[in-house]
Amino acid sequence: MGGFPQPTFFLLFLSLSIFVIPSTAHNITEILSGFPEYSAMNDYLTRTKLADEINTRETITCLVLPNSAMSALAANKPLSVVKNVLRLLVLLDYYDGAKLHQISKGTTLTTTLYQVTGDAHGNLGFVNITDLKGGKVGFGSAAPGSKLDSTYTKSVKQIPYNISVLEISAPIIAPGILTAPAPSAADVNITQKLEKAGCKTFASLLVSSGVLKMFESALDKGLTVFAPNDEAFKAAGVPDLSKLTNAELVTLLQYHALARYNPFGSLKTAKGPISTLATNGAGKYDLTVTSAGDSVTLHTGVDSSRVASTVVDDPPLCILTVDNLLLPSELFGKSPSPAPAPEPVSSPSPTPSTAPAPAVSAPSPSILSPPAPPMASPESGPAGAPEAQSENSSTGSGSGGADLKAPALLKTLVAASAAFVAWAMLS
Ligand SMILES: *[C@@H]1O[C@H](CO)[C@@H](O)[C@H](O)[C@H]1NC(C)=O
Ligand SMILES: *[C@@H]1O[C@H](CO)[C@@H](O)[C@H](O)[C@H]1NC(C)=O
Ligand SMILES: *[C@@H]1O[C@H](CO)[C@@H](O)[C@H](O)[C@H]1NC(C)=O
Ligand SMILES: *[C@@H]1O[C@H](CO)[C@@H](O)[C@H](O)[C@H]1NC(C)=O
Ligand SMILES: *[C@@H]1O[C@H](CO)[C@@H](O)[C@H](O)[C@H]1NC(C)=O
Repeated sequence: MGGFPQPTFFLLFLSLSIFVIPSTAHNITEILSGFPEYSAMNDYLTRTKLADEINTRETITCLVLPNSAMSALAANKPLSVVKNVLRLLVLLDYYDGAKLHQISKGTTLTTTLYQVTGDAHGNLGFVNITDLKGGKVGFGSAAPGSKLDSTYTKSVKQIPYNISVLEISAPIIAPGILTAPAPSAADVNITQKLEKAGCKTFASLLVSSGVLKMFESALDKGLTVFAPNDEAFKAAGVPDLSKLTNAELVTLLQYHALARYNPFGSLKTAKGPISTLATNGAGKYDLTVTSAGDSVTLHTGVDSSRVASTVVDDPPLCILTVDNLLLPSELFGKSPSPAPAPEPVSSPSPTPSTAPAPAVSAPSPSILSPPAPPMASPESGPAGAPEAQSENSSTGSGSGGADLKAPALLKTLVAASAAFVAWAMLS
């Protein structure tokens, strides 16, 4: 490094990368609140938590339905079905009225949020946009044989090129999307989903401890599970779970769930501590969420873990995998440490004597994972590097920002090259 002190280089890297971490640039709830004719849609975007996901994305188009069409769509349908139909109305590209009429060859397929859930097979997550005769633009499912039975009616709002809101006449219906059952204890096999996602140990503990039954009875009101993968149980420093009493094991497992539906996109916008199924009093058995770019980290006060992938995201059920066991300070910390700073990225602690620098601002010494090299740690790494890996760890059914991989990687590259240029100039 030509005599250039590594910690300084590291700080330089961090300070440059902070500039390219996207902030929430728009608020769909606020945009639509100016238009009472879309209040029903706005309400459903909030209830399905799609608003959070829309707000943390860039270069998107929201197709909105007038109240009558929205009410007809939602009547007697479970929220999970409504969410999937609304996901099909969020296009992962920017279209304004002019661009709709300039589609090359007059027809195109565009990706939607539904495609990134993993529920969509084949073309089901794509929407066909076609410039029809007479100046009309038609929308339909990209599935073969689908009709273009929704049309563009007017432009609502544009913030180029972050978000465009366009009104359409009717929902876009992909084959089978309306008849999918809502997740319920009766027809979602949580253990099977966990096993398929590489969380066999966690699944078997849930069964043997009886906590699975608690999860199932909590499901109808909303349930989010943070499932540690099998490697997490084998990691160095994991406490010997066989030494726990039954009650402690139950608490530990309950600590890995929330009594509400909280998908990845909503975790990214979470502020302050969140209570878990183990919470039995104010501030007890809480988790603190931090996010940097597309990466979300949970902090327990004893250790922390990246949220790795989405296994199920269908209201009222959300199953996410985590890299580490979440160890509550009430069970594993002799002296619970204060909640971590909300922005771990911005508080590196330079230690001139040791190279590489330690993982940045872990809330307290992690007893789970050895200090990762700074660039690879979810807390300190630039946005997206961990996310790129998470897409494949979810056995083909992940969502939760998986498709943000490309822009996030781009930002990483921009940050890295800027840091390199600065370093080259200084050394
Ligand atoms: C678009 O998003 C970027 C990144 O989030 C933000 O910096 C920019 O200000 C936004 N543009 C507008 C016009 O709001
Ligand atoms: C978005 O706007 C709504 C309504 O104005 C507000 O309640 C909500 O807190 C805002 N969300 C964010 C993330 O700022
Ligand atoms: C979109 O649908 C129309 C009508 O079914 C079809 O003719 C066209 O080829 C489709 N476009 C694409 C890009 O598949
Ligand atoms: C759920 O799946 C597991 C294995 O993946 C199986 O042992 C169990 O019997 C299933 N439960 C139900 C209720 O079908
Ligand atoms: C992810 O999985 C897909 C399909 O299973 C595969 O084509 C791709 O190479 C994988 N990507 C990585 C980074 O492993």
